[in-house]
Amino acid sequence: MSKKRSILLGVTGSIAAYKAAELAREFSRQGVEVRVMMTPAATRFVSPLTFEALLTIPVITDIFNNSTVGPIPHVSLSADVDAILIAPASADAIARIAHGLADDIVSCTTLAFDGPVLIAPAMHHKMYLNVATQANIAILRERGVTVIGPESGELASGGHGAGRLSPVETIIGCTLKTLGKSGDLACRTVVVTAGGTQEPIDPVRCITNRSSGKMGYAIAEACRDRGASVVLISAPTALPPPPGIQIHGVRTAQEMFEATQAAVQHAEVLIMAAAVADYRPATPAHQKIKKGDESLTIELERTVDILGSLQGELLRVGFAAESSDLERNARAKLSAKGLDLIVANDITATDAGFNSESNRVTIIDRDGAVERLPLLPKREVADRVLDRVVQLLS
Ligand code: PMT
Repeated sequence: MSKKRSILLGVTGSIAAYKAAELAREFSRQGVEVRVMMTPAATRFVSPLTFEALLTIPVITDIFNNSTVGPIPHVSLSADVDAILIAPASADAIARIAHGLADDIVSCTTLAFDGPVLIAPAMHHKMYLNVATQANIAILRERGVTVIGPESGELASGGHGAGRLSPVETIIGCTLKTLGKSGDLACRTVVVTAGGTQEPIDPVRCITNRSSGKMGYAIAEACRDRGASVVLISAPTALPPPPGIQIHGVRTAQEMFEATQAAVQHAEVLIMAAAVADYRPATPAHQKIKKGDESLTIELERTVDILGSLQGELLRVGFAAESSDLERNARAKLSAKGLDLIVANDITATDAGFNSESNRVTIIDRDGAVERLPLLPKREVADRVLDRVVQLLS
């Protein structure tokens, strides 16, 4: 994606304001440029310096006294951002924005912005449930503002009820989805598989492989950032669940097959980056196998070929993990499984394939066209593969 995504984070007066610092840092990790504006009340809860130290940019707190963003901060601050996110959004901030007030930097800048606005309310539950706040939130929803949460639970005041700021990952996920709305996969549903399946030998042992899930997760994140609804079917990995993506954990090839079969009913694209076991123990032991002096033979049987068996109106992309004859073997898989695209990676390289941050792949399409990519971070590989998917969809 050429332009870096950017948001303007509005922080308002709520005890949850300190969580905005975590939000800002997580957005940066996700490759989103963040600018911050704070109401005077927010600065009583958390210092602008916190954000300035995290993001190394000035934080705007005043409509009139901001030499860093030019003479008209409420206009220039949001001039080239993709969205405004107000988190936490206090009852007061929500009321101001709903009624077009503009006497603090957050409400004033939001009033002068015609792009997408998201708010994540956080307040005492009685303030949240008050008819005035509910009416103000209804006004904002009606105008197209995305309202994230709040969650129910224990509140800072000691009470219990609806009013907690939504978890950081929920807010990040909703915002990334909003940022992707104008992407080239908007309105598409993509199913992605990732990780190495585990086939039980007995209750404590299994047959698996070295897939970390990084390639599949990078594809899922790239799909999300280009506007797709993503279902990620993941074998066990050590990776954190990516925000804004529906994740379905599985263990065995059979479980992955069943989850994928169900998910593709509502999808246009299936991308299988998972390293699926081709064989599994025919009769896994119910108890832990005791060691003896004799050698042990485990009979293996074939697992279902997930990609090969899911046909129909679905664009299917496979990965080929090869240790020899990369392109010849990948072509054979492309045609045997009737795929639209295959992404071949040489798994003998130490800087590519399994459990590395980068990958070096060759993309072969159903007409035989070959695109050899240099060593790239997995996220960039994902975007190059998706460029081809978008071409095929159109
Ligand atoms: O997870 P990482 O550490 O980031 O590593 C990434 C990766 C090397 C695992 C990934 O880039 C990759 O190559 N994934 C596919 C690995 C694989 O199983 O390749 P294969 O050549 O055995 O299978 C070909 C295709 O058929 C794959 O898309 C696979 O998901 C699919 N398959 C395989 C077996 C099976 N029973 N059903 C399937 O659908």
